[in-house]
Amino acid sequence: MLDQVKALHQELEKAQVSNQDELESFRLRFISRKGVITELFQGLKQAAPEDRKELGRVLNELKDQAQQKFKNLIHSLEVQAASTSSSDLDLTLPPGGVNLGAVHPLSAIWERVIEIFGRMGFNVSDGPEIEDDWHNFTALNFPPNHPAREMQDTFFIEKDPDIALRTHTSSVQIRVMEKQQPPIRTLSPGRVFRNEAISARAHCIFHQYEILYVDENVGFKDLKQTLFHFAREMFGKNVKIRFRPSYFPFTEPSAEIDISCLICQGEGCNICKYTGWVEVGGSGMVDPNVLENCGIDSNKYTGYAAGLGIERTAMLKYQINDLRLFTQNDIRFLEQFRSLGF
Ligand code: DAH
Repeated sequence: MLDQVKALHQELEKAQVSNQDELESFRLRFISRKGVITELFQGLKQAAPEDRKELGRVLNELKDQAQQKFKNLIHSLEVQAASTSSSDLDLTLPPGGVNLGAVHPLSAIWERVIEIFGRMGFNVSDGPEIEDDWHNFTALNFPPNHPAREMQDTFFIEKDPDIALRTHTSSVQIRVMEKQQPPIRTLSPGRVFRNEAISARAHCIFHQYEILYVDENVGFKDLKQTLFHFAREMFGKNVKIRFRPSYFPFTEPSAEIDISCLICQGEGCNICKYTGWVEVGGSGMVDPNVLENCGIDSNKYTGYAAGLGIERTAMLKYQINDLRLFTQNDIRFLEQFRSLGF
């Protein structure tokens, strides 16, 4: 029997498994109740009584060895499985690039506008996106029956008294002038809302920047020169700007601002409606009624104001021909602005 035990010790020492089937064979042979070791324990009964104690010790040793070996084999199979399932991991490869985000083009324009006007002495002001009728319409000289006050143009939140999502950043002009006497030189970028169908040129949510300058002796020439300078800073020396006579309740005289189309370079495209010019906003001399509504003496002070679209500005600057791209979150679009940095 001792020879048999010795042979089994050696067999155990050498045993290797490479899969679950082989492990199971090992278990059946050495561990199970029908295995060789149990069989040897049963043989003890036939051994001479004086040998039994020593044989029992030897067999228990063998049993311990088998159980330890079994644990080791289970562990080695687990290690093997883990390393084969990640065999596509090549630790010698150089690390992949880290994908940094990019500044959204609208944010880039927003920041650039603040920078350009900041250098001309304009501070930044802000107002609420949910506005009352006074700041969005009445103080801006809108007559009671003006079409902008209708449901089809404005998102109303409450009626009587009217509370709405602001339709333009001109409401911030009122908020600033109510609080501050001239000289006022302020820029108000912000989000605005209009009840409009979404298309390549229009959206129900978009952004504007409002420019307001009120002081003694401010004239239309100041408005023109400031916007001309701004356009050159924003779009480069070759840009052309033109003022088209227009009407707004809060300015007199009023003008729409056009920028030469930088998308088609004047050849004609869907954004400039084949005219070579893109309207970027409105402007004019602040109507004396508006100054008076805010407690500013219109005999002493005059001012100019303008409101331009951030989306329109970004479309011209980056040659984007569909405004919907700004809000679709398509990574292929956004990635193209990586170079703008943070
Ligand atoms: N608030 C006007 C709009 O959203 C734009 C505008 C026109 C703003 C003339 C002005 C201005 O400050 O003077 O259509």
